[in-house]
Amino acid sequence: MIAQHFQLNDALAYQQWREKKLAAYPLKLANYQTYIKDIHHPSATELAHIQAAYQTTNMAFYRFSVDKEQEKELIYQLGTQLGLKQLDHNLCADQDRLTSIRVTQHQGQHNYIPYSNKRLSWHTDGYYNPPDQQIRGMLLHCSMPAMQGGASLLMDHEILYILLRDQNPAWISALMQSDCMTIPANILNGKIIRPICSGPVFSFDAKGQLHMRYSARLRNIQWRDDPDTQAARAFIQTLWQAEDSPYILCYTLQAGEGLICNNVLHRRTAFTDNKQDAQKRLLYRGRYYDRLN
Ligand SMILES: [Fe+2]
Repeated sequence: MIAQHFQLNDALAYQQWREKKLAAYPLKLANYQTYIKDIHHPSATELAHIQAAYQTTNMAFYRFSVDKEQEKELIYQLGTQLGLKQLDHNLCADQDRLTSIRVTQHQGQHNYIPYSNKRLSWHTDGYYNPPDQQIRGMLLHCSMPAMQGGASLLMDHEILYILLRDQNPAWISALMQSDCMTIPANILNGKIIRPICSGPVFSFDAKGQLHMRYSARLRNIQWRDDPDTQAARAFIQTLWQAEDSPYILCYTLQAGEGLICNNVLHRRTAFTDNKQDAQKRLLYRGRYYDRLN
């Protein structure tokens, strides 16, 4: 199913939706942040404020204070209350499946950039997941920020859809092809850790909502070799050159703050960690098969 405003032959529904969508920009961050007074019992008003934020932009920020031991469990519960229930199990997830993101190296993490202090290029989470395990919801919570850097840059994937469709609707069709973006198998010491994965950039869930899988990485991504796909890919790359775009939000999560979203496009800037172990950057991330409700 495809929602009416995403149907390429319905220009009117698209224009009406587009106008409403763009009216929120430039985003005033304060409107999309919710302070949760008691994270053990978020109020109906607080939850409604978070929902209103992500219903507009597919993302919302929250903040609360609680002691560190309870933090992880309480974030998990907050996600559940907003419809994030089916966690994805990835290679590096902790026992309870929320992933601790810090600079580290141990078995199973084989030098993934997310676990370094390097910059991460634009992507949606789990773009290498098989079609039946797409990541539709994502939660990122900061337990300890970096000494310097480590900002998140974010763009609602529906905005990217608009920018592309306004340029050339044929690009949207191209990005919906089932062999549009292919990620080669991940092989470590001769063992296949993740098989080859091919799929569309844009797809729609059972309720007709837009989902996106994307990575700006130039290596290890094979794009379909046709003019529209190549032009669309190049156009998206040019967008990343202008990070002062009104559609890109830049924010550095502080301790006790988090982002909850429908797996919008994002990237991370490089960072410098504190020398003290207890003060090194630590984020918790949850990846879900559900969208926010
Ligand atoms: Fe990510």
